[in-house]
This record gives sequence, structure tokens and C-alpha cells, in this order.
Amino acid sequence: MSPRPRIGVLVSGRGSNLAALLRRRGELAADFACVVSNTEAPALEVARAQGLPAVAVPVVRGEAREAHEGRVLEVLQAHDVTFVVLAGYMRVLTPFFIGAFPAGHITNIHPSLLPAFPGLHAHRQALERGVKVSGATVHFVTPGDVDGGPILAQRTVPVLAGDDEDTLASRVLAVEHQVYADALSALFAGRLMLRDGRVWEVALGEV
Ligand code: GRF
Repeated sequence: MSPRPRIGVLVSGRGSNLAALLRRRGELAADFACVVSNTEAPALEVARAQGLPAVAVPVVRGEAREAHEGRVLEVLQAHDVTFVVLAGYMRVLTPFFIGAFPAGHITNIHPSLLPAFPGLHAHRQALERGVKVSGATVHFVTPGDVDGGPILAQRTVPVLAGDDEDTLASRVLAVEHQVYADALSALFAGRLMLRDGRVWEVALGEV
């Protein structure tokens, strides 16, 4: 991926994944350009504490999704963002937004082992189904199925007897914080690449 990507992070909540990425920013061959939220989220303070521009772009009641996305894109473009990292962004992106970036330039983290349990309440879905293993998935964002894009990395955690949504979520969150930085580090270093709709590990020496 060249030249050095400029990352715009989209957030909606507390921003622990953002904080985890910023802790490892020195390992990423990319620069953090700005953070954008659809609400006045605590994650914006996480960004500001690190000296990053952080902007809330509130949703206007009744507006089309694309209208809100257009304002988000304006902020990203004003900061010369070339790569979008979703970190707890709670809005589904339309093809309009996704098409504003080349393929393989938007990533997301999801708290399940996709393709199992996409969308909302992943931990509830996992517990209701009785799976014994869950985890986190880093994937590219593509138009179409929510959480359905090519997978860059996954990490597992056990589901324990007596787990509830909170205990499972906190165990998964700990691995989210590791796997997202690991995946982006590999991607920006050229050790992962998207080809024919799949993510491939680039072997040493391969061109
Ligand atoms: C994480 O579990 C993420 O996988 C999900 O929303 C949560 C965001 O948490 N999409 P945080 O804001 O990064 O702390």
C-alpha cells in the first residue's frame, strides 16, 4: 500500500479500540489524520488527548444516510484521509461511502468469529447459540452484507460456563485490542494483501 496511508478513524462509543491502536501507532506504517464520530462520543476525547483532530458529525433527524455520510466524507477529505478504520462505529455504511475509497481501504473490527453472528448483539447471539469458542474478526468493509467483507485476521477466546454478555464481551475486547493493531500493522507493512476478494499473506520474497 503506497504512499503511506493517512488514517481516519470512525467511532461511536467509548473508544477503547481507538486507544489500543494509538498505543501501537509507532508500529503502523501509516499516520493518524483524524477521528470522526456520529455522536459526542467519549472516543473523541481519547483522540484529543493524543492531539488528534476529533470531530462529531451528528445525524440530522430524517436525513438520508448518504447525506450524513457526505458530511463525514467532507471531514475525512479535509484531513487528506486515504484509509478508513472503523472502531466501534455504529452506523452501517452505504455503497456511496464505501465507493469513495478504493477496495481494501476500509477496515472494521467485529466481536465474533465471522461469518458467525454479524450485526448487533454479537455476544448475545453467540451465547444463545451455545458456541464454545468466540473471538474477534478484522475485515475489510465491502458493499453488501453487513460484516461480510474479506477477513484479514481473527483471534479466538473460550466461552466459559456462566458467561453473560458482559463477561464474554470483556474477554473478547481484550483480544480485539491486540488483533486490530496486529492486522493493520501487517497490512501497512505489505504482509497482507487483497486479491480476488480474499486476503492473502504475502510470503517473504514474493512480489
Ligand atoms: C467493540 O466491541 C467493537 O468490536 C464493536 O463495538 C465495540 C466498540 O468498543 N464494533 P470501543 O468503542 O472500541 O471501546
